Amino acid sequence: LKVLAVTSEIYPLVKTGGLADVTGALPKALSAFRIDTHSLVPGYPALLEQARRHPPLMEFDNLLGERATLRHLEIDGLCLFVLDAPQLYDRDGGPYVDRHGNDHPDNWKRFAVLSLAAAEIAAGALPGWQPDLVHSHDWQTALTSVYMRSMGCAVPVVLTIHNLAFQGQFPAHVLSAIGLPPHAYSLDCMEYFGDISYLKGGLMTADHITVVSPTYAREILMPTFGMGLQGVLRQRMDRLQGIVNGIDQEIWDPANDPHLPVGYDARSIRNKRRNKPALLERFAMQPGKGPLFSAVSRITWQKGMDMLAEVADEIFQVDGRLIVLGQGDRDIEAALHRTAERYPGRMAVSIGYDEPTAHLIHGGSDAIIQPSRFEPCGLTQLYALRYGCVPVVSRTGGLSETIIDANDAALSARVATGFQFHPVTADGLRHAIRRACAAYRHPTHWSRLQMRAMQADYSWDRSAAAYASLYERLASTRSLMT
Ligand code: ADP
Ligand code: GLC
Repeated sequence: LKVLAVTSEIYPLVKTGGLADVTGALPKALSAFRIDTHSLVPGYPALLEQARRHPPLMEFDNLLGERATLRHLEIDGLCLFVLDAPQLYDRDGGPYVDRHGNDHPDNWKRFAVLSLAAAEIAAGALPGWQPDLVHSHDWQTALTSVYMRSMGCAVPVVLTIHNLAFQGQFPAHVLSAIGLPPHAYSLDCMEYFGDISYLKGGLMTADHITVVSPTYAREILMPTFGMGLQGVLRQRMDRLQGIVNGIDQEIWDPANDPHLPVGYDARSIRNKRRNKPALLERFAMQPGKGPLFSAVSRITWQKGMDMLAEVADEIFQVDGRLIVLGQGDRDIEAALHRTAERYPGRMAVSIGYDEPTAHLIHGGSDAIIQPSRFEPCGLTQLYALRYGCVPVVSRTGGLSETIIDANDAALSARVATGFQFHPVTADGLRHAIRRACAAYRHPTHWSRLQMRAMQADYSWDRSAAAYASLYERLASTRSLMT
């Protein structure tokens, strides 16, 4: 089966979060099911030089008035189609923002063009290669199915929502600029509270919608988590499915991680503690008697990092340590810095994006904190499990189903892997930290938790099988119809 994945991020080339991890790992996992994925990505600076070494596959003369060249690039086991349109994608900053962190003002166009190119490829524009199915991800590529339907292309489309908080909402007048007919501005397509929503357009036109955990699939039908789209999602409930993310176990492998001074696996877990001094030294911190907690996260309200700033003192009362690596909301960053200033040598905050350090943190910390207010899946807690770092998480979305709380029943059944709290409040988090600190005082108890964590299986195998059977079903239904 030939699949065209369309995405605005892909690991290891362009990453701002979990979306890249998923789009980077899923094609490799799917190849075991004889699914050949080509991923269409924008020609960002990180890809251009290599992509331009190859002859063009085709030229697009008019993608919303823009010219673009399609190039092929094979890298790290991924087959990429790179949309080379320097006027749109060859820019400083991140995939969505400029050097100062401001959204590019023409994001509406950049991602509409990407989606339109995908739709044209799906409809057969590329000589010699046409997909049997298209898989789009998040609002940035959700227009793909809108374009496909408007051009009469019936290739099936799966749209995966990684985070409903980002919807691609723009003023209604953008509709004509993205080349869609006025009737696309309707309740059953893109109209959204007087604006247009790219994500809604995708939700209304894709054949199947997946989200990144079964719990999130249920949560988003309610106003609290539906972010305004709960009505649309309810309407499409029969096409909505949750498939939990996996992790790339080669990239995240504590036995074989170039960023760890000492490798370890479940059998040699004692060696994990030998990474702690390197981690503490990296952040100029003193060792303590209590656990070393860390957070590797976007520093945002979604991720509950404001609550962490508020309750961190709980950790220092038992002579614990705290490291925070991340970036995001300036006010929350400042709140974390203020807490850290009160606890020099005991708490460190590093603002920035740093993949090697993220690995070292998982290798050297005792516990990871992820107090998200909502979490479609969450990958950090899965990396933590694999690294024997006990997760302390809020009970929401993917966090609630991937971590087994260390309550009495789970402990006696020896299945507990971490600590969960609910309601998701600062007090809830405080209580969970206390429970983790208490458990840490009992070494056998703690190492049992670590062992169970490391034995949890979040490889891609099961979830890739779920995507593969979904793809097969949609593709065969289509061929029966044609
Ligand atoms: P989200 O995609 O909502 O940010 P996930 O938990 O799904 O959350 O994925 C986050 C990914 O980004 C993980 O791979 C995590 O290790 C990584 N990450 C987040 N912040 C940083 C950072 N400051 N430095 C390095 N990696 C980070
Ligand atoms: C989003 C979500 C996160 C999820 C990731 C990958 O960024 O916030 O929960 O793990 O996408 O699917």
